[in-house]
Amino acid sequence: MATQTKSRPAAKRKPEKQAKADAVAKAKAIEPDVAARIGSTPRTKFRGNPDIFGRLVEDHDRHRALFAMIEETEGKSTERQTLFRELALEVQAHAAAEEQALWSTVLRNPETTEFARHAVAEHKEIDEMFADLAARDMASPGWLKRFASAKEEYLHHIREEEQEQFVAAEKTLGASDVHYMRKVFNRRKKAEKAAAKIEKKIKLKD
Ligand SMILES: [Fe+2]
Ligand SMILES: [Fe+2]
Repeated sequence: MATQTKSRPAAKRKPEKQAKADAVAKAKAIEPDVAARIGSTPRTKFRGNPDIFGRLVEDHDRHRALFAMIEETEGKSTERQTLFRELALEVQAHAAAEEQALWSTVLRNPETTEFARHAVAEHKEIDEMFADLAARDMASPGWLKRFASAKEEYLHHIREEEQEQFVAAEKTLGASDVHYMRKVFNRRKKAEKAAAKIEKKIKLKD
């Protein structure tokens, strides 16, 4: 009698709406009284996906919510300080874990090197933007304006990942790769967030 091989049950996909609501709830937990008006989000086939790409979009939605929440706050309020700190640490840990779990492998494949390089180069620019914002006075009138342009840049980065770089990467990765990468990402994100520090450095050029 042939022995039946046990196949691993396929991980379940979360409905898109639910995935987005859960991600926003994580941001809201930081400051429950601040509204998170993220509105509509760019189309992506990965929201709710059970592997690495869905996990990354979950973080992206959480970051979209934190950006929106900070825009609801005033001056040097504790809400703004708490939310900015959370966003800066989140973005830093997300980018590092994304590089370790996903981009390092994608970079190694000549077919997709360029996509990974693009995403990683933008991470460096995003780090600098956050260091610049952290070094400036939150109560000054120009801060929110700088914050708005940082938001625009970050939203551009995550939209491109979701619509271009993840799409290209997915084509060259197998089902077990993307499953395993989610686990690596979760483990690394936790460690990176625990070790993350807010850097303060004014950008010399605007
Ligand atoms: Fe990224
Ligand atoms: Fe990302």
